[in-house]
Amino acid sequence: MKKYALLSLICCQFLVASLDTNKEAMKFLVFGGKTGWIGQMIMEDLSKKGYACESADSRLENRESILQEIESKKPTHIINAAGVTGNPNVDWCETNKQATIRSNIIGALNLADVAFLKKIHMTNFGTGCIYEYNQEHSLRSGIGFTEEDAPNFAGSFYSSTKIMLDKLLMDYPNVLNLRLRMPISSDLSPRNFITKITKYPKVINVPNSMTVLDEMIPLAIELAALGEVGNYNFTNPGVISHNEILELYKEFVDPDFTWSNFTIEEQDKILKARRSNNELDVSKLREKFPQIKEIQDSLIEVFQKIRAKKNHPS
Ligand SMILES: NC(=O)c1ccc[n+]([C@@H]2O[C@H](COP(=O)([O-])OP(=O)(O)OC[C@H]3O[C@@H](n4cnc5c(N)ncnc54)[C@H](OP(=O)(O)O)[C@@H]3O)[C@@H](O)[C@H]2O)c1
Repeated sequence: MKKYALLSLICCQFLVASLDTNKEAMKFLVFGGKTGWIGQMIMEDLSKKGYACESADSRLENRESILQEIESKKPTHIINAAGVTGNPNVDWCETNKQATIRSNIIGALNLADVAFLKKIHMTNFGTGCIYEYNQEHSLRSGIGFTEEDAPNFAGSFYSSTKIMLDKLLMDYPNVLNLRLRMPISSDLSPRNFITKITKYPKVINVPNSMTVLDEMIPLAIELAALGEVGNYNFTNPGVISHNEILELYKEFVDPDFTWSNFTIEEQDKILKARRSNNELDVSKLREKFPQIKEIQDSLIEVFQKIRAKKNHPS
């Protein structure tokens, strides 16, 4: 802990100094920034921090339009928070494979490639749902998958497109790929993992790595501004189970809330595609940001915000 605290102090001072110096020279173009859940949060945080930023208009599959937009808006940084995730959920991708490939592979690669040719840094919001627990990385072992481990979960078409993209993006030296999982925020949007599991008739109960967006989006922007590249497992440290989150929901939001569990095997029967459950190793991210909170602590802060908003709606 002492090592992390000291590192944290040194890193923060360095990051703050170098970011402030260059801020005026930067401009972010955010794909997914107009209508996307995560994209809009990124736009909000960039604006709050005083970065020049614009939401992109181009569709990812339209390379010419991306090129023209980049030439006219002249970003120094591109963020890709666009892609199809399926409606109502990733099962949609099983029956819409070509549309999924068009956005999640061809589209994202178009963007990375145009950015490469134009010498622009790109941050891609990817996913860590490309692994599942196995013998070497077993449940509650504390041994998570590192960025060096080969993906081992292609149980859904969505995940298999993300595996292909994850691999191909690493041949682009201008790309930072952030692997999020089960994102959580204090906004109770339908895309928020807390909202999702409170609405399901039945939920599984498995510990997983998760990303608290309130805490992590500012870190994504710092990494982008610094021009960091490569794969990063982008979750809070540690794991938390569905029931632990629902207990917190009951404590902070709705004391009368009840839920019922079922097994992964029972869940598989009602889904078109399997879902990934895993723990990611976030040592690489923690080297940069030793201050990142353990998932339980970060989640309590989220629930405190949700409770405050509930008690004092604006
Ligand atoms: N939410 C999650 O559980 C989760 C977990 C891990 C990773 N991620 C990744 O993070 C990214 C953003 O997720 P999100 O939850 O913010 O999704 P979201 O709310 O569904 O937003 C997706 C955004 O992408 C845009 N988009 C889709 N296809 C496009 C295309 N071909 N060209 C241009 N824009 C396109 C959508 O614009 P339109 O509305 O105009 O179509 C929308 O703005 C996705 O790539 C997702 O895979 C999400």
